[in-house]
Amino acid sequence: MSKLRLVTSALPYANGDIHLGHMVEHIQTDIYVRFNRLMGRPCVYLCADDTHGTAVMMSAERHGIPPETYIDRVRHQHMADFSLFNISYDAYYSTHSPENQRISADIYRSARADGAIITRDIDQYFCEQSGLFLADRYIKGHCPSCNAPDQYGDTCEVCYATYAATDLKNPVSVFSGKAPVIRTSTHYFFTVSKYTSVIQQWLTTNPVVDAVKNKLQEWFDAGLNDWDISRDAPYFGFPIPDTINKYFYVWLDAPVGYIAATDYWATSQGLSYQDVWNNADIHHFIGKDIMYFHTLFWPAMLSVAGLQQPKRIHVHGFLTVNGEKMSKSRGTFILARDYAAHLDTDSLRYYYAAKLSPSLDDMDFSVSDFVNRVNADVLGKFVNIVSRMGAIITKKCEGRLSTIDADGDALLHRIRQESTAIQHDYDNTAFHRAMRRIMACAEWTNQYIDAKAPWGMAPDAAQTVATVALNAASIISIYLMPVMPRITAAIHTLLNTKPTQWSDCHHPLINHPIQPYTHILKRLTVDEVNRGLFSSNP
Ligand code: MSP
Ligand code: ZN
Repeated sequence: MSKLRLVTSALPYANGDIHLGHMVEHIQTDIYVRFNRLMGRPCVYLCADDTHGTAVMMSAERHGIPPETYIDRVRHQHMADFSLFNISYDAYYSTHSPENQRISADIYRSARADGAIITRDIDQYFCEQSGLFLADRYIKGHCPSCNAPDQYGDTCEVCYATYAATDLKNPVSVFSGKAPVIRTSTHYFFTVSKYTSVIQQWLTTNPVVDAVKNKLQEWFDAGLNDWDISRDAPYFGFPIPDTINKYFYVWLDAPVGYIAATDYWATSQGLSYQDVWNNADIHHFIGKDIMYFHTLFWPAMLSVAGLQQPKRIHVHGFLTVNGEKMSKSRGTFILARDYAAHLDTDSLRYYYAAKLSPSLDDMDFSVSDFVNRVNADVLGKFVNIVSRMGAIITKKCEGRLSTIDADGDALLHRIRQESTAIQHDYDNTAFHRAMRRIMACAEWTNQYIDAKAPWGMAPDAAQTVATVALNAASIISIYLMPVMPRITAAIHTLLNTKPTQWSDCHHPLINHPIQPYTHILKRLTVDEVNRGLFSSNP
């Protein structure tokens, strides 16, 4: 029995809708999880909403409801959105949970006992017009590192530097548009630099790809700053133990949300979170904008808590739409549920898979490219085998497959030979390469069909060709199960088979009844996709 894999996607903020950018990450994670399950490896996939902070507090206020009601509503919407894409979490929890409050406080106390918590009076921006200390996201200005305009007070979206809001040049309050004033307040800090060698030791176990390692090296070279983990009231979050009116900064309890979700799930299995966390291989999937939190603070916090470090942090790039950053004003900020209302969700899963690799490069959703890929690969190369060959079996052969001849054996052998390489690609999250290999299998099958030309053949001979081709399709469909759960299930239903593990690709379907073909996927047109995705947006 292999070791449990504990797999997470980053916890989406509770102050916004799920969009196609989030879907890159959840589809990537879900493909990885479904692949591992298909291999018979134990795997638990956890996620949660990230519920704290000023943004959520303000959104709830705008809706005129308590933050607890607001985050509950958003969480249900998020879960519904993800289920449209068949994301197969074992639990989808919330950071606003008793488990998270307890574990966050425990980790904080361990850090304090370890001498890693200090207080310091800091000058902080205060918006006199709105009566609030300004959270980093409520101040905008020029990045102190690269001078990019219009950047938030915590991280730069252009160069990924992180900094204190007071370092921002030409700051303005987003509430009033006015320059904020400075007020003094006592803050709590976590001295990350105390754990530099712990983090560096962890890095020697290769938890990240080289591009991430290089970024980390830049951060080490610059020196690690103490991390401000407190926020003043009013703030929606957990109070810091033994303080008055101080709350944990949302990014303190957000990653702890991974552990809290583990605790929630572990309890349902009669286990403790320590049992699960410390004995699993932990895989986090995140976007490149949140590397700093996951590769520096997080291993330090885990070390303080005496908990195991992640085995792997998989970092992906950002989704652009038609070559540009997603934007509400340009109507390219596509919500997951708007996509699903008009288009097939497995097709998006395939499109992303065909582009996803372990690299941090951004990836583009381009309408024409999307239409071509889905039509050419999913329909043209794969589903077509089943519709064309299924028709022969249904019309000419009383709905039964027969046997496989020598040419057929050679084809199926060649397809099965790809199995190891495809597994390897899935294991390494080189999904783009796995898709290329799988589509090559489909091309070989189409070449086999074209060479045989079964349409003009006598029923018996045609039956053999169709039997071979449908066996090939069944294997290819197993290879694609992690990517397209709906379409592959529909194909296996037509073929009257129900594979549950990768090794089922070795079971041939011989003298076997199948179902008449029913519609699986329709051809896309650019017009239709444009209408579906962009017409409802402002
Ligand atoms: N709440 C934090 C994560 C806390 S994890 C302990 C957060 N939330 S988020 O909703 O802003 O983003 C969630 C994930 O979605 C992040 O990994 C982020 O990189 C990813 N993406 C958000 N927009 C994206 C794109 N346009 N493209 C690809 N991924 C994107 O950060
Ligand atoms: Zn910058």
